[in-house]
Amino acid sequence: MKVGLIGFGTIGAGVVEIFNRNQELINRKTGRKVELKRVVDLDIETPRGVEIDPEKLSTDADDILEDPDIDIVIELIGGYEPARSFILRAIENGKHVVTANKALLARHWDEIMSAASEKGVRVAFEASVGGGIPVLKALNESLAANRIQSIYGIINGTANYILTGMASEGCEFEEVLREAQRLGYAERDPTFDIEGHDTAQKLIILTLLGFGVYVPEEKLHVMGISNIKRHDIEYALEELNHTVRLLAAARLEDGELELWVMPALVPADHLLSSVTGVYNGIYIEGDFTGPVMFYGKGAGRRATASAVVADCMDIVINPEKRIPMGPGFEAVKSVREFSRTT
Ligand code: HSE
Repeated sequence: MKVGLIGFGTIGAGVVEIFNRNQELINRKTGRKVELKRVVDLDIETPRGVEIDPEKLSTDADDILEDPDIDIVIELIGGYEPARSFILRAIENGKHVVTANKALLARHWDEIMSAASEKGVRVAFEASVGGGIPVLKALNESLAANRIQSIYGIINGTANYILTGMASEGCEFEEVLREAQRLGYAERDPTFDIEGHDTAQKLIILTLLGFGVYVPEEKLHVMGISNIKRHDIEYALEELNHTVRLLAAARLEDGELELWVMPALVPADHLLSSVTGVYNGIYIEGDFTGPVMFYGKGAGRRATASAVVADCMDIVINPEKRIPMGPGFEAVKSVREFSRTT
């Protein structure tokens, strides 16, 4: 099996590192020789701190998309275009796809999944939510016998770092944000993380797998954390015994699915309150399992690359696997509409 990687950025370099270090293990666990054949990026000169045969590098995506020898295409360039076109072309050419691109999936789910289904190939996307945390596979497989009742997630490391930093250091929002940027946890333009859009896109994917319904971001109630003051966090803890977390919620009640992203009060003794710093936590209630909780690194080169390579291995082992589209989805009769003033 041959793999082509488009996007030799932070996570792409992590993928190369895993293939370098764990090649034998990958082969042994899949029972096949799985080779990273080609790596494409517009910039193939800047050193990434990983060893790679220069023969494998190319600046032309066609070297992967049009190579009949390549079975799996990893897309790690992010954003909508050209990622969407590359993925659709890979599918059209009969290749399986692995992606971490939550924005693209959250907006173009139907188009991409219909194309994959027509061609009989897989699109795997564990890395799109929760980095290295195996939450999507759990929703899809390990919890498959359950009707999912609720999902609560702290799924943005930047926002969580800021909120928990404000609490532990007694600092205001701007100060912790600057520190997060200095440490490389927050983007130079952190709007997307702070205003809840990254969380919303991940919630859309969790909702697809947990409840089998696609709800576009425009229909979600999304509120970020930029208005949270140190005083709010202190008051919540000291007077109410709650922490403040940017929470994504999907909750089914009497057939109505309620979806929102907002700063929420979490009881101080709840497991989600113990999720601090850049870590993510996802709390899921199934009707038979009761609550289960996932915790770990929701971003970063090594953790996210781990999910990407595991998806490649899963495709090698089971190229026929399909997404059952949520075991409880027939239970969703409506999606609650929020007005901006709700
Ligand atoms: N910016 C995201 C975060 C990275 O802070 O969690 C992973 O999607």
